[in-house]
Amino acid sequence: MTKLYKAVVAGTGSFVPNKKLTNFDLEQMVETNDEWIVTRTGISERRITEAGETTSDLAFEAAKRAIADANLQAEDIDLIIVGTVTPDYPFPAVACQLQERLGCKEVGSFDVNATCVGFITALQIAEMYIKAGKHQHVLVVGADTLSKLTNYTDRSTCILFSDGAGAFVLSRTEENAEHKGVIYSSIHSNGEHVEALYVPHGGSKHPYSESYEKGIAMDGRKIFKLAVQAMSKTVKETLAETGYKQDDIDSIIPHQANQRIIEAVANQLDYPLEKVISNIKYFGNNSSATIPLAFDLAVKEGKIKRGDLIMHTAFGGGLVWGSLLMQY
Ligand code: ACO
Repeated sequence: MTKLYKAVVAGTGSFVPNKKLTNFDLEQMVETNDEWIVTRTGISERRITEAGETTSDLAFEAAKRAIADANLQAEDIDLIIVGTVTPDYPFPAVACQLQERLGCKEVGSFDVNATCVGFITALQIAEMYIKAGKHQHVLVVGADTLSKLTNYTDRSTCILFSDGAGAFVLSRTEENAEHKGVIYSSIHSNGEHVEALYVPHGGSKHPYSESYEKGIAMDGRKIFKLAVQAMSKTVKETLAETGYKQDDIDSIIPHQANQRIIEAVANQLDYPLEKVISNIKYFGNNSSATIPLAFDLAVKEGKIKRGDLIMHTAFGGGLVWGSLLMQY
């Protein structure tokens, strides 16, 4: 019989740029105010890159920390997957740049574009490879610099977005090991909602030109509703598939898009808000990075401990959504 393995988190790391963009800074840039932003989003400040500072720079720092945390060397990594929608170049992949910058062997590497579900999608792929026995130590990174896509004259979007990176090393253990590692994951999409949240220009439909219009286009109210429905549904589905009860889950880490969305999901699930990890106040929405960043900081702050059962859930432009349940 084919031997199967389990995938466990061996180490985590994260990195955000030094530059802070506060609500008071935004008050100087667009017609808005701190109270409106805090009330509607829960965000007080966010980190954004300087000119010349790239997604691969953030990903590199987070990845180095995750590899060190796992007590491994770069040459132990045998696959690199990066979730991002803001690569340094349209191609090649950020993952390929990491291979060289980290000093990994000439292992496979690729990026995944699943917007804010990029990290969960990348983790799911990594787990499948590990489970099948193909790889031993997979570096999985979520890294984005949404500030590079943001139009800082559009007050309805520029208050939300930010930059950051987080990384996990996912390692192989025997299937009968006591530690459960990744237990279940699922991803979904509905392309009907493409234009509810997208970047209209710079792709093959409207390629770069002099009249290039920078910015993320979003129907905020529609996305808000879809996000709450999608994340609640996928958490319920994961519990039903695995047989775990809500009380078994030590923490939920949702994509950090808006504190009101996070609270609405907790409310719909009737899950205690104090067990939902949120750091959106300080970091805003950095897309693929929000989940691994929140996870890593929660570990470092002692909010997540070894053995805890953690539910990750996210949604993003597409619309895409998904969940991943694991024992840390
Ligand atoms: N400051 C002050 N007023 C503002 C601002 C601002 N920054 N932005 C909008 N307003 C005004 C609007 O013009 C509107 O004024 P009006 O009533 O005179 O027309 C009023 O505030 C209300 O605007 P709404 O858009 O209805 O406000 P809402 O309560 O829906 O909040 C928000 C807007 C925060 C964008 C919310 O809809 C939201 O968070 N949606 C989800 C967004 C999201 O999660 N996006 C990313 C997900 S995926 C990814 O991560 C890439």
